[in-house]
Amino acid sequence: MAGHALVVGGSGMLAPAVRSLVARGWRVSLVARRASAFVRREPGLVGYDCNYNDADAFGSTLDRARDGEGPIALAIGWFHTPGPSSVVAPRVGAPGSPGRFFHVLGSAAADQSQPDVLARAARTVEGAPSCLYRQVVLGFVLEGEGARWLTHDEISGGVLKAIDEDASLSTIGVTRPWSARP
Ligand SMILES: NC(=O)c1ccc[n+]([C@@H]2O[C@H](COP(=O)([O-])OP(=O)(O)OC[C@H]3O[C@@H](n4cnc5c(N)ncnc54)[C@H](OP(=O)(O)O)[C@@H]3O)[C@@H](O)[C@H]2O)c1
Repeated sequence: MAGHALVVGGSGMLAPAVRSLVARGWRVSLVARRASAFVRREPGLVGYDCNYNDADAFGSTLDRARDGEGPIALAIGWFHTPGPSSVVAPRVGAPGSPGRFFHVLGSAAADQSQPDVLARAARTVEGAPSCLYRQVVLGFVLEGEGARWLTHDEISGGVLKAIDEDASLSTIGVTRPWSARP
């Protein structure tokens, strides 16, 4: 099933996922501060220049994307702050036709000394009846005696796998043992 997909932060580590969605027939709206520069080099995308930390501008940008390309059936968001997910969630899906929101979270979400990170993230999307919320946690890779962070291809591939499997919570790589993280 394809339709309108929104990818916030899609010009960085999620760029391979964006290209795959386009290849699968999705109409992709990409939001980043310099989205237009990115989409000039990438066919098949619509870019929206916006800072997601400006909630009003971010909301209006998502409304424009939805008006232009139709209801958001799939959203992927990678943010450095907790607030923007609450702007995305109410704009995902439509009455009678829910959409899915895959929220990508950094490794800190797996830090046992902060056990409520995932629950707090989930609370930011409460009250959005058409949004089916999913979480994807970025881990790391154990290699030989050490560990390394995920590559962009691993992150994008893991997000696509989470979408294909429709997992409510998935981890890319590992998050244990926590003390082994790079
Ligand atoms: N556990 C892990 O393995 C892990 C976890 C996190 C990060 N990393 C690595 O760390 C690297 C750096 O991470 P990164 O956070 O810079 O990710 P990134 O995905 O490489 O880049 C951030 C993305 O978000 C956009 N963006 C950033 N701030 C924004 C804002 N205020 N408003 C709108 N869009 C915004 C950027 O575009 P604009 O600059 O045009 O806005 C870009 O598309 C990644 O490339 C990844 O490899 C690894």
